[in-house]
Amino acid sequence: MSTAIECLQLNIRRGKNQILHDLSLQVPRGVIMGLLGPSGSGKTTLMRAIVGLQKIESGEIHVLDLPAASKGLRHMIGYSTQSASVYSDLTCLQNLQYFAALYSVNEKTPEEILADVDLIKNKHQLAGSLSGGERARLALATTLVGSPQLLILDEPTVGLDPVLRVQLWELFHKLAAQGKTLLVSSHVMDEADSCQTLILLRDGRVLAEGTPAQLREKTGESRMDDVFISLIGAA
Ligand SMILES: Nc1ncnc2c1ncn2[C@@H]1O[C@H](COP(=O)(O)OP(=O)(O)OP(=O)(O)O)[C@@H](O)[C@H]1O
Ligand SMILES: [Mg+2]
Repeated sequence: MSTAIECLQLNIRRGKNQILHDLSLQVPRGVIMGLLGPSGSGKTTLMRAIVGLQKIESGEIHVLDLPAASKGLRHMIGYSTQSASVYSDLTCLQNLQYFAALYSVNEKTPEEILADVDLIKNKHQLAGSLSGGERARLALATTLVGSPQLLILDEPTVGLDPVLRVQLWELFHKLAAQGKTLLVSSHVMDEADSCQTLILLRDGRVLAEGTPAQLREKTGESRMDDVFISLIGAA
């Protein structure tokens, strides 16, 4: 029960293109794992497969000890897509009430979730009038509906200023401290240091994995940007 996600020799095609090549990885439970890689490297495709939305050509994916796409996983995974969607013409509270109505098991009430992401004071505000950071927190809140043990967050901090990004990362750490597992994609390398462990994808293959400290040691570089440039150069 110590692995949240396990992919074994995963091959995925989209259209005519082979996107993931024999990809294997493990995400331990209760950690924040960063999924990093250049644009087009396959981060979103991998996340879609883990959530059960992407057809796979061959290989296996186990999520919380069940095969990916199992019905039993539906309320246990929170997923926010790359262009996270909340309903602009509903209030924050109504957005969460809408999502909560889709689940039979809800660990927390919509108000409790809004409190967790510090949006209680905005609960009757239309989502369309939120600031960028508030909107990002509401999108995160929608992933907390149900009883998720695993959060799959596709570029959740994109477009946010550095201060808001730090605030959002604090929230991710709070959720991990509650025992949730987070898989967070980013192509902002300075976010790598906020993750306990990292997977670097390139062209649909795992280029490197380990803790930020291990990857620094392996490359002899200190800045994360340089770590990755060095790993790409050595591949
Ligand atoms: N429906 C599709 N048909 C063909 N190719 C596709 C399709 N969807 C995605 N791709 C290709 O798959 C590759 C991986 O895309 P993916 O969205 O997984 O990358 P990503 O790492 O998430 O990139 P980004 O950082 O830009 O979000 C890209 O080259 C993309 O053009
Ligand atoms: Mg993507």
